[in-house]
Amino acid sequence: MAGTFPKGFLWGTATAAHQVEGGNTASDLWLMEWMKESLFAEPSADACDHYHLYPQDIAVLKGLGFNTYRFSIEWARIEPEEGFFSKAALDHYRRMIATCHALGVTPMVTFHHFTAPLWFTRDGGWETSRSVDRFARYCEKAGAALGDLLPYVCTINEANIPIMVTMMRRAVGIAGGGSRRERALAEAARLCGGEAGKFAPYLSGNGIATAPNLISAHRKGYHVLKGLTEGKVGITLALNNFQCEEGGEELFKTADHAINGQFLQSLKGDDFVGVQTYTRVRFGKTGVLPPPEGAERTQMNYEFYPESLEATIRQAAKESGCPVIVTENGIGTEDDTRRIAYTERALQGVLNCLKDGIQVGGYIHWSMMDNYEWLEGYRPKFGLVEVDRTTQARKPKPSAYWLGEIAKRNAT
Ligand code: BGC
Repeated sequence: MAGTFPKGFLWGTATAAHQVEGGNTASDLWLMEWMKESLFAEPSADACDHYHLYPQDIAVLKGLGFNTYRFSIEWARIEPEEGFFSKAALDHYRRMIATCHALGVTPMVTFHHFTAPLWFTRDGGWETSRSVDRFARYCEKAGAALGDLLPYVCTINEANIPIMVTMMRRAVGIAGGGSRRERALAEAARLCGGEAGKFAPYLSGNGIATAPNLISAHRKGYHVLKGLTEGKVGITLALNNFQCEEGGEELFKTADHAINGQFLQSLKGDDFVGVQTYTRVRFGKTGVLPPPEGAERTQMNYEFYPESLEATIRQAAKESGCPVIVTENGIGTEDDTRRIAYTERALQGVLNCLKDGIQVGGYIHWSMMDNYEWLEGYRPKFGLVEVDRTTQARKPKPSAYWLGEIAKRNAT
């Protein structure tokens, strides 16, 4: 069913620094990608060389019809040693943000997207309460350098994903779990001269311990940034649609509160909440249930379930009381026709929410281009634009033109 979106709707694509820039050598993950016990399928290496090629990438996005670009600035580049803030790195991001403005693209900048400086992770990462002030200090420095150019800021990307990963790891046993993960953390600590047991990267640390610090870091970062920019400030959350099947009531309730509820309920009064959705998670008698038999799966082995977006927008709006922006939604697939099919159904969900008076300010697709999918390396293809990683040539896929046309029309 065709539908129109509100005036000023943000139509964008997203990336994260470590996944596209290349050469993020002062980060925790760079070390973890190259070491012997690595959990990563391959290192990020040069990635898509977006650090240098951003002007052409932003121009491609604009040419396709999008009006917004969500990307992250890299803490590990900006504060590669504790207390040293690189003016050169901040100037780089200032140029990048200025390029968006010059091309008529609204920049939405995330301050923390999974990676952190090695010194931070070596010293306990988000598991220590010192992380809160460390993050606030970084927000203060980067906010002072960039704030006047920022219409939208996301403090932390998917602040609830560490606890989700930890709880799921315990419930079902996922990649990188168990002793392999412990061996990797021990090797990383040893290589960087840290203490065993203290090295705590965002996604493979103890998410139960990090949740309160991440909530406090967002609150503190939010207030710091509100003083340094006139733009809107919010957080983004990984909100896959949790569904309860018979016998799964208790686990569903505990998981939904720990992973979704406690974060959403802490956001009252924020300028927006960023909703990021990929699939659904079903809870049953035996715990987390696999996708139903015969269900289509994506390259991430997730169930193809675009309806998750509508459900999570509704949940986010209701529990946080904040306006929603879809800051990530997409699918890992080699079959671009499935990307179109997925996005078409997801957008119908956005329209249904708008019809019911829920404030949704934009739809930002993950991802602008094929990039480094963390543990999975370069295999999963989430991009609207294909990247030849030998030549770094870009080629928009049919889905990019299709979604760009919707963006131009502001209507499906
Ligand atoms: C993250 C991205 C990631 C995407 C697809 C989100 O959880 O923010 O960095 O690439 O999902 O898996």
